[in-house]
Parts: sequence; C-alpha cells; structure tokens
Amino acid sequence: MTGFDPTGSTVVVTGAGNGIGAALATTMAAHGARTVVADLDAAGAARTVEAITAAGGTALGVPGDAASQDGVDALIAAARAEYGPIDAWFANAGVDRGRGLDASDDDWELSWNVNVLAHVHAARRLVPDWVERGRGRFVVTASAAGLLTMLGAPAYSVTKHGAVAFAEWLSATYRHRGVVVQAVCPQGVQTRMLDDAGPLKELLSHDTALTVDDVAGAVLEACSDDRFLILPHPEVADYYRARAQATDRWLGGMNRLQRGLETTTRQENRP
Ligand SMILES: NC(=O)c1ccc[n+]([C@@H]2O[C@H](COP(=O)([O-])OP(=O)(O)OC[C@H]3O[C@@H](n4cnc5c(N)ncnc54)[C@H](O)[C@@H]3O)[C@@H](O)[C@H]2O)c1
Repeated sequence: MTGFDPTGSTVVVTGAGNGIGAALATTMAAHGARTVVADLDAAGAARTVEAITAAGGTALGVPGDAASQDGVDALIAAARAEYGPIDAWFANAGVDRGRGLDASDDDWELSWNVNVLAHVHAARRLVPDWVERGRGRFVVTASAAGLLTMLGAPAYSVTKHGAVAFAEWLSATYRHRGVVVQAVCPQGVQTRMLDDAGPLKELLSHDTALTVDDVAGAVLEACSDDRFLILPHPEVADYYRARAQATDRWLGGMNRLQRGLETTTRQENRP
C-alpha cells in the first residue's frame, strides 16, 4: 500500500524539542497521530508536548539521548508502552559541529553518533517488527549537505552523506517487505542550527531559508507517495544532477562560493 495516513498512527520524532522536529511532531499530531516527542532538551520536549495537547492532539514527551543504543531502546520501550507498535520513526535529531580541518575528534565523533549511528541503532530495533507486520516507515532528516556538501563543515557533510547512504541501503534492502524509507534533504531552514552557522548562514539562505512549517508540510505531502528523496528546496535536485553529470564543474562552482565566503569573512574581520 502506498502512502501514510498519520490518523491513529504512532509516530516517534527525535529532536522534536525544537526546530524542524517540533514542526514535524506538531504536524503529525495535528493530522491525528499519537506522537512521541523525543529530545535531549527536556524543556524543549515539554514545550512541544504542551503545544500539541493545547491544540487537542495526543503526545508523550520522552527526554533523553536518541543517538546511543541505550537511549534508543529506552525511547522505543516508552513509546510502545504508551501507544503500542510504532508505525513511523522520524530520525530528525542532528548536530552541526566543528569547522574546517579544525573540527576536533570530539566534533567528528558526536556528528557520527547523532547524524549516522542513531539511525543504525533505531533501525536495528524497529525493522524486525516492521518486517513481521509488513509495514513501517523510517524518515531520516538528512540535509542537502548529504547530497552535495556544506562548505566549512566537513563533519556535517560527511555524516549527512552517511545518513543518506544508510537510508538508501535500508530502502534497497527492505522495500519489498513493506518498509518505506525517506530522506529529507533541505538547504537552509530557519532554526537555531542555521542561526549558529555563522558566516555560512547567508550562503545557506541564498535560495531563501524555509520555515520549519514549510519543511513539515513537504514531509507530510511526501508521506502520501513514499518518494525516497524529499526536497523541500526543489532546486537541490538540479544541483545533485549537476554534481553527478559534471563533477569537476560542480566542484569548481563550489570552490568559487568558498572563495566568496573567504572574502566576506576577511571583510567582516577587518578592524
Ligand atoms: N536548519 C537547517 O538549515 C537544516 C538544513 C538541513 C537539515 N537540517 C537537519 O534538520 C534536523 C533538525 O535540525 P534543526 O535545524 O531543527 O536544529 P535544532 O538545533 O533547532 O534542533 C535539533 C534538535 O535535536 C536535538 N538533539 C540533538 N542531539 C540529540 C540527541 N542525541 N538525542 C535527542 N535529541 C537531540 C536538540 O536538542 C535539538 O532540539 C537536523 O538533523 C539537521 O541536521 C537542518
């Protein structure tokens, strides 16, 4: 069966205390899902639950780490205990740490754990149940950086490529068993993460940063046809094609953007 109707479904959204995750959770809840709101930020998770319940929706807040295997296990147990089997998992929590070659091993390790291993930890537990039931949905909030690259942010770019690669592998392996996998790959979105991106903020906003509700709306819409790539900024498809078809030309263009960024940063740092 194609498509996903949130009504009466149990969905889990990680990183749902803020930003895109909060919008995904409120959107799913507004369409009738029993929504589990997971975040390291307990106050953020509580805020999202409050917003959902105030609007007449159903939500459970589960503060904790959605990246470690223990954290994922605790989250799955809490969700199943409250609402029964999990129908859809929105692997949305993500981090953007470190800049350039100065990114530390700790930055790389955290990025790897949250942006990639979290998805492995979740899929390992969820997929066997979904295969048995003949249905389940795993939606990864990756990034356009996972298809292209993000200047200045090697740990983010590499691990978001890893997130997309893992999602592709899951889809290729389990789609005939009813498991639908989707990868959300936006460019700039107006959240705290974009605010913290420093000089990159302007570059990432070049194609107009979307609101979190734009992204949640695009995800809801894409849930109806099960497409793998969800591109809230449609122009990302053109860049992705250009990267594949004329890689050196595309890299030359990225390098021109990098040089522009260096000039802007030099001008900003001038006394
Ligand atoms: N904002 C953008 O421009 C943009 C663009 C493309 C992709 N994304 C991706 O969208 C997702 C959401 O980002 P956002 O922009 O809403 O950022 P955000 O910082 O507003 O929200 C991220 C949330 O994830 C939570 N989180 C981080 N690590 C966690 C962990 N281990 N366990 C549980 N929760 C954890 C944070 O506490 C935070 O609430 C991320 O995966 C990000 O990489 C963002």
